[in-house]
Amino acid sequence: MSDVTIKVNDNGPLRIMGKVEMVDAVGNHFETTESFILCRCGLSDKKPFCDLTHKGKFESAPRA
Ligand code: FES
Repeated sequence: MSDVTIKVNDNGPLRIMGKVEMVDAVGNHFETTESFILCRCGLSDKKPFCDLTHKGKFESAPRA
């Protein structure tokens, strides 16, 4: 069992739960908490984080 869980929310963001280090393409660190959400729809003005813009505009419910 991993110390980090990534939950794919139906019609919404990826919820990251656990202590992670997140960096951009050049290695700069994003400030995160132990639970945060990442945009999966591409509509957020706060990428890579979700700002809830997806609500009612994005449909995706993948299953493992
Ligand atoms: S998933 Fe929430 S704004 Fe993109």
